[in-house]
Amino acid sequence: MRQNKYSSAQIALHWLSAFVILWSLCAGTYVTLFDVPPGVKLTLTALNISLTTLFIPFFLMRAVLRIDYLRKHSPGPGELLAAFVHNLIYLVTGLVLVTGVLMMDRPIVVFDWLTLPQLLTRPDLLQGFHTAHRNSTELLGLLVGLHLLAVVKHELSGNRILQHMSFQTLPWAAPLGMHKVNPTTRSSRTSMRSPKHILDAQRDDAQGASRRSQQASRAGR
Ligand code: HEM
Ligand code: HEM
Repeated sequence: MRQNKYSSAQIALHWLSAFVILWSLCAGTYVTLFDVPPGVKLTLTALNISLTTLFIPFFLMRAVLRIDYLRKHSPGPGELLAAFVHNLIYLVTGLVLVTGVLMMDRPIVVFDWLTLPQLLTRPDLLQGFHTAHRNSTELLGLLVGLHLLAVVKHELSGNRILQHMSFQTLPWAAPLGMHKVNPTTRSSRTSMRSPKHILDAQRDDAQGASRRSQQASRAGR
């Protein structure tokens, strides 16, 4: 049974979103900032539109799981800032998706397979949503940058938070307080302990228990 902070569905959706968002942020910025040949720009924009439109139902699923998670786990005092930034990422991603759809001045073509109608036609509204899409993608880029810096900072200081987003089910991937540890070597950050430390502690415990049972049976003779 997995004992991680997030469910497998949340982890899978996190990595899917990370891929789609990082790719579309980079590709979108690249075609906007650089002098890209028109054919390449057209292809990359069409690819981004298809990919991000297909991503919308997955984002909705992820948002529902997030709301359910927040209802069951209220963040501790040390987790408030991270929880706030994560919620902001959800909000801004939602804004980027909505403004992207509403700024479309043509039907949305998904990989030549599905065509969704253009929702707005008034030029001032289209222009307004284009500006809102640009501003919200910039804000999302900033938040993703902060998120990645925070992950690197935690990892470098020994707080192995990447394990929260990994699929492994080894005992040392379990959250705080769920390991069986030797009290003499217990550290305040149990989740930082390496697999070797955990295995050593479990072996020490087992050896101690077998010594105690041998002493008890000798005393009983
Ligand atoms: C390679 C890039 C990324 C890495 C290494 C990474 C790593 C992580 C880790 C380790 C956590 C768990 C934090 C914790 O609760 O302890 C996390 C959570 C989270 N990450 Fe990322 N992340 C990446 C990209 C992204 C991107 C691009 C986004 C979205 C824009 C994102 C959004 C989130 C959110 C919203 C959470 C909160 C948990 C949830 O509801 O899924 N991450 N990430
Ligand atoms: C995760 C969601 C999305 C991300 C990260 C994203 C990212 C970007 C970025 C960085 C740009 C360049 C912004 C600029 O003009 O400075 C852009 C432009 C654009 N995006 Fe998005 N986008 C997303 C979703 C969507 C969606 C859902 C649509 C429409 C269905 C869309 C349609 C467009 C269009 C048409 C452009 C303008 C291209 C041009 O100016 O020629 N985007 N996007």
